[in-house]
Amino acid sequence: MESNVSSERKKIAVFISGGGSNLQALIDASKSGQLTADIVWVVSNMKKAFGLKRAENEHIETFIYKKKNYDSPKTAGNDLLQKLQERNIDYIATAGYLQLLPSVVVKAFRNKIVNIHPALLPKYGGKGMYGQNVHKAVLESGDSESGATVHLVDEIYDNGKILEQAKVAVLDDDTPESLAARVLEQEHKLYPETIEKLIKGKYE
Ligand code: GRF
Repeated sequence: MESNVSSERKKIAVFISGGGSNLQALIDASKSGQLTADIVWVVSNMKKAFGLKRAENEHIETFIYKKKNYDSPKTAGNDLLQKLQERNIDYIATAGYLQLLPSVVVKAFRNKIVNIHPALLPKYGGKGMYGQNVHKAVLESGDSESGATVHLVDEIYDNGKILEQAKVAVLDDDTPESLAARVLEQEHKLYPETIEKLIKGKYE
């Protein structure tokens, strides 16, 4: 029988720390066929992350990854890498994951790890720029637009190559919450679209 490796569905691991609405968007896109990949592993550093429930509802394997459960950062990184390799993971998507991935994992998955950030990077990125901090900073700046960015992940927070952005207008009466909600709506479209393009080699 002729094998056609390129037509195989890719395997994605999604890393989360919280609600996981982007994880849900990826799961939904995978189920609808918009994303030609399967979410096969969901990793969280927070035991109580609601995203873990979303994964369980879809019968996706989950894992709580806490560096403090290991003897050293090196052991922690190597164990995570081994687990990714055992599952034949092709791509990693971080979605509201509030930690840096171990450098041994970043190296092994170079150009195969993406993150979504709720602002127009390179503005409003870096350590501490997460959640409402981002939207507060945008509102305080007086910028007239914000948005979402999908970028490759390297060893520095929010630093890798920008793949795609979606813009939203900042409204006069916006609060951090209302702006976050408008950006999040865009994120749910942009993330699956961009990962699909990455898988199809559009950024090479
Ligand atoms: C999103 O705004 C994402 O851009 C940011 O964290 C938030 C996660 O939301 N990195 P959710 O957990 O996907 O609902």
